[in-house]
Amino acid sequence: MKQQPDIQWDSLPFGYIKTDYNVRCTYKDGEWGPIEVSQDEYIPLHIAATCLHYGQESFEGLKAFRGKDGKIRVFRMDENAKRFIRSAEGIMMQPMPVELFCEMVRKVVKLNARFVPPYGTGASLYIRPLEIGTSAQVGVKPSKEYTVIMFVTPVGPYFKEGFKPSKVCLSREYDRVAPKGTGSFKIGGNYAASLQAGEKAHDLGYSVMLYLDPKEKKYLDECGAANIFGIRGNSYITPASPSILPSITNKSVRQIARDLGMEVEERQIPYEELETFEEVGSCGTAAVISPVAEIHDLDNGKKFIFSTNNEAGPKSTQLFNALRAIQLGEAEDKHGWVEIIEEED
Ligand code: PLP
Ligand code: COI
Repeated sequence: MKQQPDIQWDSLPFGYIKTDYNVRCTYKDGEWGPIEVSQDEYIPLHIAATCLHYGQESFEGLKAFRGKDGKIRVFRMDENAKRFIRSAEGIMMQPMPVELFCEMVRKVVKLNARFVPPYGTGASLYIRPLEIGTSAQVGVKPSKEYTVIMFVTPVGPYFKEGFKPSKVCLSREYDRVAPKGTGSFKIGGNYAASLQAGEKAHDLGYSVMLYLDPKEKKYLDECGAANIFGIRGNSYITPASPSILPSITNKSVRQIARDLGMEVEERQIPYEELETFEEVGSCGTAAVISPVAEIHDLDNGKKFIFSTNNEAGPKSTQLFNALRAIQLGEAEDKHGWVEIIEEED
């Protein structure tokens, strides 16, 4: 039995903690090489590598959970693998085959199994795959060589409020991404473009910035690094937009909502409709389901209030519990979303 790390599991932030190993795989001369295991937290890079100059970088985020039965479960890694391909193709990088991606995930989780937080702590193991263009180019051209790295880190809640509702602000002064640019890819450049707005929201005491669509500023778009949803009656309503990331959590929650007999609407959501929602939340791998108490429009001073008692609404709670139960192996995995990772002795 391996030694348990000295970590306060139930007060873990969403941050980086060094684990034992990361895994790497390089594409060179037209093929992917073997999966390499490393203990090094650094990578050597050519000073003219395309990732440094022209933003050839994409990443993913997924989680592994320890169940009451002690088993480790990874949630929907095939979906992350497919999105990783989409992002790579979107910025002309070599896409990694789904099976190779999944092999790397299994390996990095197994190698760091002692860092998968114990059941009941609310914490999980965050898996961060990333791909970079590594060969030298000075003209604006794609790299010829690529490296995929996966590291893991145990994490607690993304927002300090956890499953308690937080306050969000909204402003038309920022575009997160360009819809016909790289809007729906999970690439580093989109997050660089969101830093000013995110820091402004934090400085004003909000958890994140809610963006309206970049084209007309009429419709709800992305909620920081998560999708947004509203609940009205028995309906789960979430944006369809070319400038949001197609969230795997949202896709799963939509299915869970249908399974629970709710109506699901995926469509443009006019700003004015905020007024009609009984509950609002954001969803994502890091955010899980994060209830929103209030949305403050910084441009016109309008306030939309969804919770006055510091509690999540009943539908958001039901969806959160149902998602968590599948991830922890406590509810039937009827859609085949989880894979159990066997631990080595
Ligand atoms: N939107 C953005 C901008 C994100 O960074 C994320 C996080 O991955 C999401 C949405 C949620 O996506 P997922 O549920 O696949 O993690
Ligand atoms: C995720 O939910 O996995 C994210 O990527 C959000 C953020 C930490 C970038």
